[in-house]
Amino acid sequence: MMPTGRFENQQSERANTLKRPGLFITLEGIDGTGKSTQYRLLVSYLKKLDCSVCATREPGGTRVGEQIRRVLLDSSTKKMSALAELALMYAARAQHLEEVVRPALTRGQTVLSDRFNDASMAYQGYGRKLGTEIVRALDRIVCGPTQPDLTLMLDLAPGVALRRAQGRELRRNSRHGRFEAEGLKFHERVRRGYLAIARQNPKRIKVVKADRPVNEVQSEIRKLVEEFLARHQRGKALGVRASGRKWRLTCGPQSPMPNH
Ligand code: TYD
Repeated sequence: MMPTGRFENQQSERANTLKRPGLFITLEGIDGTGKSTQYRLLVSYLKKLDCSVCATREPGGTRVGEQIRRVLLDSSTKKMSALAELALMYAARAQHLEEVVRPALTRGQTVLSDRFNDASMAYQGYGRKLGTEIVRALDRIVCGPTQPDLTLMLDLAPGVALRRAQGRELRRNSRHGRFEAEGLKFHERVRRGYLAIARQNPKRIKVVKADRPVNEVQSEIRKLVEEFLARHQRGKALGVRASGRKWRLTCGPQSPMPNH
C-alpha cells in the first residue's frame, strides 16, 4: 500500500472537517476592549441554554498550550523574535485544534474560543509587521479548513484600550504583560489589522463597538449569537459548564482556563 502523504491527510481532514456538526465561535479584539468580561458573560448566557459548549482560549486551552502561553505573555521573556512568536502561537494552536477544537466540533459541541487565528494575523501579521502571507501560509498548514463560523470583534480606540489594559495589569501586579507593554503604535497597527480582516470577511466577522457600558455590549453580542444560532438551527443544541470564574473544559483534558 502506498504511504499516506501529507496532501492526502489534508484532503481527508478537509472532508472530515467540512462534515463537522459543531459550530465554531471566536471572540477577538485588541487588549483592553473588555473582551474577557464579555467572554465570561457570554459563557454564562450560553450556560442557560440547554446543551453543550466547549469554552476555551488562545494561546492556551491545553496543557501544552498553557505552557507556551506563559512563555509568550511573560514580560520577563526578552528578545523573542517576531517569527518565533508567530511559530509559538501556531504551535499552541496546532495542539489546541488537535486536542480540543476538532474533537469538540466532531462531537457536535459549539466551540467558543477567546481568541483564535485572527489574533495571529492582527498581532503578528500587522502588529509585528510580519505581513499577511506568512500568517496565511502557516494557517493553511495548521488550521486548514477548521476556521471560525462566527467571530465577534470588539473594537475600541487603541489609546483608550491600552490605558485600560495597562491599568488592569498594574492592578493585578502581573508579569504577564508582554503585549500590553508594547506602545500605542503597535496597538494601532493591530487594530488596523483587525479592521482589515473584518472588511475582508463581512459575513463571518461582526464588529461590536466596545466604547459602551458592559451590558450594552453584551446585549449586542447575545443578539448576534442568537441570530447566528437561529440561522444554523442550533439554538437548542447549546450548553456549557462553567464553575465560578474558572472555566472548566467540557471537552479535552482539564487545563487552566481564563481566570480574569
Ligand atoms: P488574552 O488572553 O486575550 O490576554 P489577557 O491576558 O488580557 O487575557 O491574549 C493574550 C495576548 O496574546 C494578547 O495580547 C494577544 C496575544 N496574541 C497574539 O499576539 N497572537 C495570537 O495568535 C493570539 C491568540 C494572542
